[in-house]
Amino acid sequence: MSTPIDGIAPHGGQLINRIATPAERQEFLAQGDHLPRITLDERATSDLVMIAIGGFSPLKGFLERADYETVVEQMHLTNGVPWAIPVTLSVNEEVADTLKEGNWVRLDDPEGNFIGVLELTQKYHYNKAHEAVNVYRTDDIKHPGVKVVYDQGAVNLAGPVWLLQRDDHPLFPKYQIDPAQSRQLFKEREWATVVGFQTRNPIHRAHEYIQKCALEIVDGLFLHPLVGATKSDDIPADVRMRCYEIMMDGYFPKDRVILAINPSAMRYAGPREAIFHALIRKNYGCTHFIVGRDHAGVGDYYGTYDAQYIFDEFAPDALGIVPMKFEHAFYCKRTQQMATTKTSPSEKEDRIHLSGTKVREMLRRGEMPPPEFSRPEVAAELIKAMQG
Ligand code: ADX
Repeated sequence: MSTPIDGIAPHGGQLINRIATPAERQEFLAQGDHLPRITLDERATSDLVMIAIGGFSPLKGFLERADYETVVEQMHLTNGVPWAIPVTLSVNEEVADTLKEGNWVRLDDPEGNFIGVLELTQKYHYNKAHEAVNVYRTDDIKHPGVKVVYDQGAVNLAGPVWLLQRDDHPLFPKYQIDPAQSRQLFKEREWATVVGFQTRNPIHRAHEYIQKCALEIVDGLFLHPLVGATKSDDIPADVRMRCYEIMMDGYFPKDRVILAINPSAMRYAGPREAIFHALIRKNYGCTHFIVGRDHAGVGDYYGTYDAQYIFDEFAPDALGIVPMKFEHAFYCKRTQQMATTKTSPSEKEDRIHLSGTKVREMLRRGEMPPPEFSRPEVAAELIKAMQG
């Protein structure tokens, strides 16, 4: 094992904590009924949480105009720190007109619970097409991330936020490990190097292969499935988490692997989101981050390895986390093992790889995908979920 270290610095140098102290919380609760109120959607709710727990360090709130512009255009905050995805809170003009800069705004979750406070420092109009083309590389409304931008309000509200309290996740309390805790866990386990894995899909053999290849190089693996908002045809988070539990029970060494949830929402921004995902994992304490084929992609909007090339646009030390790049992995019948074109001499017909759509169709029919594609216990769990 490598020498224990104090852990990698959070992005921007300091782990942000915007969870109100009990005294602040009492004060906010007392003011709550008198403040103007905004109801957050699922994504903004998870963004608020991510800011508060330090997952989005160095952000302390929703982006002000100058930062928004440099993020959209240059992938940097105005202070020069890399940041690839604009984290914004949008409302329509009628709502914006009722709010005054300099005032406090009460933030409710989609169920109407008072969960946070925004110190409104700025409200500003922004150009949706400009954001879409820069961040998503397309202004096609059929792109799920672009659609969110076009559907949201015309005015961004900006300023620092506070989360009233950190509640347990309703579905996965056991796996709610926030950045301060994961950093502590890595330290206790004396992991000097930890690789983070982002995912929004059920685990298959290619995932497992790249996770384990990475784990051969570093001390620990941080499995970090995203459980925030995803598009409607993605497999729900509870099903995916059950698949991961099966894997933890039977296929991973428990002392080398930690399973935890990433509460944030998917943007499907491909390359830009790969940078965003890496920086989030840096905040959780990872030193390395896996970027495979078409990371965070959707449809045919991005080239297979665009999410890897984008890391070359930053100076070697600027991001402060090392991408571990993997080619498209598949089962190779000729060599009877998982492989990529880097390691297998096989032709296409010797390779077992199934598209997500094909697998979903099979599962719906109750058909098991081949064991070379998916661990049978995982496939059985997926069939149960798809048919239920
Ligand atoms: S993502 O939207 O979260 O990227 P997914 O859960 O499918 O989707 O992928 C998780 C990670 O595994 C990403 O880094 C992705 O590039 C990688 N990946 C998925 N399938 C493969 C594969 N067959 N070969 C190599 N990398 C893959």
